[in-house]
This record gives sequence, C-alpha cells and structure tokens, in this order.
Amino acid sequence: MPTKIEKDSLTGTNTTGHDWDGVRELDNPLPKWWLYTWLVCIAWAFVWFVLYPSIPLGTTYWHGVLGASTRAEVDRDVAAVTARRAGVMNKIAAEPYDAIRAQPALLEAAQTAGRIGFANNCQPCHGAGGGGAIGYPALAAGAWIWGGRVEDIELTLQHGIRSGDPDARIGQMPRFGADGILTAPQIEQVADYVMTLYQTPRKDAAEADVKAGAALYAENCVACHGENAKGNRELGAPALASRVHLYGGAREQVVAQITQPRLGVMPAWNQRLDAATIKSLALYVHDLGGGE
Ligand code: HEC
Ligand code: HEC
Repeated sequence: MPTKIEKDSLTGTNTTGHDWDGVRELDNPLPKWWLYTWLVCIAWAFVWFVLYPSIPLGTTYWHGVLGASTRAEVDRDVAAVTARRAGVMNKIAAEPYDAIRAQPALLEAAQTAGRIGFANNCQPCHGAGGGGAIGYPALAAGAWIWGGRVEDIELTLQHGIRSGDPDARIGQMPRFGADGILTAPQIEQVADYVMTLYQTPRKDAAEADVKAGAALYAENCVACHGENAKGNRELGAPALASRVHLYGGAREQVVAQITQPRLGVMPAWNQRLDAATIKSLALYVHDLGGGE
C-alpha cells in the first residue's frame, strides 16, 4: 500500500513510499559503476545490432553493415579446400588406375578420398570396412556378384544396381514361390540342395529330397547360377557354391529368397559424386582385401 514518501531517520535517505506490512524501502540510487556499465551495455548492443545480422524482417533479416555470415564463411572455406584439392582430384579423374598406383602421393590422396567417401556414403549400408550385412554385400570378402576388378567396381558405383539409372546393372530372379513356379515342397527340396552347396547341409535332410532338389536346380536355376553354382556376373547372380551369402546362410533365408527374391537396390552415384571421388572409392573398395 503506498504511503507518504518521508525521510528515514537513521540513514537520512528518502523512502520510496512503498509499504509491505510495515516494511518500507529506501530509495537508494543505483551504484554509479553499475549504472554506467549498464548504459555501456545498451549502447554496445545497439552498435552490435547495426553491425551484425540481428533483426528478423518477415522473410528476410537485417544483414548488418559488416555483411558477416558464418554460412558464407563455411562456403569460402569449402571452396578454398576444393581449390587446393582440385589439382590432385583432376589428376585422379584423368589418369588410368595403373598410373595412379604408380604415383605414391596421388595414390595416397585417392585412398584418403576413398576412405572418407566410404564413411560418408557407403558405410550405412555396407558396414565399416565393407564388412556387409544381410542384403548388403561384404565388399572385403572377394565374393563378387558383379565383378571385383577396379573397373567393374567403378561401373557399379556410377550406375548402381536396380537404381533406376538407365545404365544400371539389373539382375532378376524369378519369384518361384510367390508366382507359383515351384510348389512349397519343391522349394524345400531345392533349399536342401542349396544347403549342400553352402557346405552346411541340413542334418536330417532325406537323400531323396536333396536329389530332387538337385534336379529342380538343374531345371530352374542353372541358367543364372551356373552349372557349378559359381554364379554369373553378367546376370548378377551370386555364386551359391560359396561360404559368403548376400541374404544369410540359414535355410529359412534360402527358402525366403527362392520364394520371393529381395532384389536389393544400390544407388547410382554418378549424379551425387564427382568422377575423381568415384574412382577413389573404387580404388578403396578394391583394396579392402577382395579386389581382383
Ligand atoms: C542404400 C544402401 C546402399 C548404399 C548407400 C550403398 N550400397 Fe553398395 N550395394 C547395396 C546393395 C543392396 C548391393 C547389392 C545389390 C545386389 O543385390 O546385387 C550393393 C552392391 C555394391 C557393390 C557390388 C558388389 C558385388 O559383389 O559386385 C559394390 C562394389 C558396392 N555396392 C559399393 C558401394 C559403395 C562404394 C558405396 C558408397 C559410395 C555403396 N555401395 C553404397 C546397397 C548400398
Ligand atoms: C533369372 C536369373 C535367376 C534364376 C533363374 C535364379 N536366380 Fe537365384 N539369384 C539371382 C539373382 C540376380 C540373385 C541376387 C538377387 C537379389 O539381390 O535378390 C539371386 C540370389 C539367389 C540366392 C541368394 C544368394 C545369397 O548369396 O544369399 C539364392 C539362395 C538363390 N538365388 C537361389 C536360387 C535358386 C534355388 C534358383 C532356382 C530355383 C534360383 N536362384 C534361380 C538370379 C537368378
């Protein structure tokens, strides 16, 4: 409740006239040092507002008379790095792989670009170090679906696999179960045969079933997976006589694939990455351990 402003008898300072249940407040001035610091801060803020981006203006904003922009700074830095690397990257793009390998400094630059490019673009699907996962081939294993020469890998990277790119690699496998080409018992039999190719035969598989499976294989699968089940790179049909499996080595996984193939997609990179980066990636993948 406001009361009268009066002089406090002890300090000689006026009261503010505010009274809270008998407690009154002295009207002491702000300390000078505090007041001036505060005013300097306000002035500083005004100067800052004028110099730097500050006030939102609908769809735009006040850019500040200094034109400062951290985004432009990043763009400048990136452009500077790109310019510094341009010589090396142009050389990687222009020279054949043998020539790159023959120049230690160039090879090292390509390996670095490949390692970083792989971590940024490929690792989510293919795993660290190209270890692979179900549905995503192990790139270090040397069990190539489409080919393991560095030129094959480069082509795979440029156009992808079932990617929609006009030059994409496209491998098809019929939907033996889903389209009723084979009956469920036939699929079980051919899966038993495939398990012998995987060198992990089903223990209680009847010999007659495995034999029937082999006959079904000869009839339905040989055209793509081959007489000796070594696969066919022209068609992108993986080797079945192998211990490396795109879709896993368990019998259920084999049955699932024969019933309804997954037909995985690998993106095309020629629109997203420049030629030198793709070549660096091809070298890196080739040198993971499985290159031919
Ligand atoms: C979205 C997931 C995905 C990404 C990202 C991806 N890949 Fe793939 N990649 C696949 C799939 C799926 C296949 C297998 C396709 C098939 O069934 O033939 C594959 C196949 C490949 C093959 C062919 C392997 C062979 O045996 O012939 C190479 C080489 C390859 N990828 C390299 C890369 C590189 C290098 C990158 C990064 C620039 C990359 N991939 C990014 C999914 C991906
Ligand atoms: C027209 C060609 C074609 C025919 C015919 C074909 N396949 Fe395939 N097969 C493929 C292709 C391409 C892939 C890889 C497809 C994918 O990514 O789904 C594949 C993948 C597989 C896989 C997975 C291999 C792995 O590494 O995980 C198995 C198992 C398989 N086929 C079994 C069969 C069996 C059994 C038959 C016959 C009943 C058969 N295929 C007929 C083309 C074919």
